[in-house]
Amino acid sequence: MTLVKVLAAQLFGGLCAFGLMHLVPTWFHSVYHWLAVQGLSAAIGSKILRQPYWWSFIHLVFLPVAWILLSLEIPPNYYLFIVGMLTLIFWGTVKGDVPLFLSSRAVAEVLHQLIAQETASRFADFGAGVGSVILPLAQHCPNLALDAFERAPIPWLICYQRARKWPNIRVIRGSFWKAQLSDYDLVFAFLSPAVMAQIGEQVRLKMRPGTLFVSSSFPVPDWEPETILHVKDRRNTQLFCYRVGFYID
Ligand SMILES: C[S@@+](CC[C@H](N)C(=O)[O-])C[C@H]1O[C@@H](n2cnc3c(N)ncnc32)[C@H](O)[C@@H]1O
Repeated sequence: MTLVKVLAAQLFGGLCAFGLMHLVPTWFHSVYHWLAVQGLSAAIGSKILRQPYWWSFIHLVFLPVAWILLSLEIPPNYYLFIVGMLTLIFWGTVKGDVPLFLSSRAVAEVLHQLIAQETASRFADFGAGVGSVILPLAQHCPNLALDAFERAPIPWLICYQRARKWPNIRVIRGSFWKAQLSDYDLVFAFLSPAVMAQIGEQVRLKMRPGTLFVSSSFPVPDWEPETILHVKDRRNTQLFCYRVGFYID
């Protein structure tokens, strides 16, 4: 759906720019004026289509930047390489899926305290990225079994390589949607608002009552967390902690 909206907003921008060029030709002295109008109209189109606010900025600059890059005559292989690398890193993001952001060391420290409080013995990171959470936890908690689910090839490879020396980590190349949620005492996820309702449903149906689901930054819609932990890091990360079977929905 995201891809359709992106294309629709760009098309809307192009049609507006062509339309205005015929209606008020005096506005268009060079191709840059056309590009500016297209970018602005695409950004408005994105708002109309209710895309998240940051898409407006992308629409505003997309075609002008593409034009400038074309004029630099960079060999096409470079673009292919960059697109290939971005795809392997941000796998699925284009479909409106979860992008790669990394948790801070401070988040891992707070999770460490939670694991100790909960006397958890099995932990999962749903979308482990490059292992920013799982690795410090493995170091601090040698008796904890940690499962790191990661779908994007390059983050998975980095996580896998980094985790090799920790026998208590299992790095799983695959989707956490297929995970056996009842196996875990504590599940951590740092995902995106787009999937929180769905993940909440999985937690409700499949995690054992009394276990803990911790979501970094994004709450599960309409659920009351047992606690919200405020992490002292650059983003002022909030950790929404849900006790399975005890939330209000
Ligand atoms: C915001 S990052 C969080 C990374 C890490 N947990 C951290 O806190 O630093 C989300 C990660 O989830 C991964 N991801 C998204 N959907 C996934 C899925 N269905 N299965 C496994 N990983 C997924 C993305 O590739 C990305 O690396």
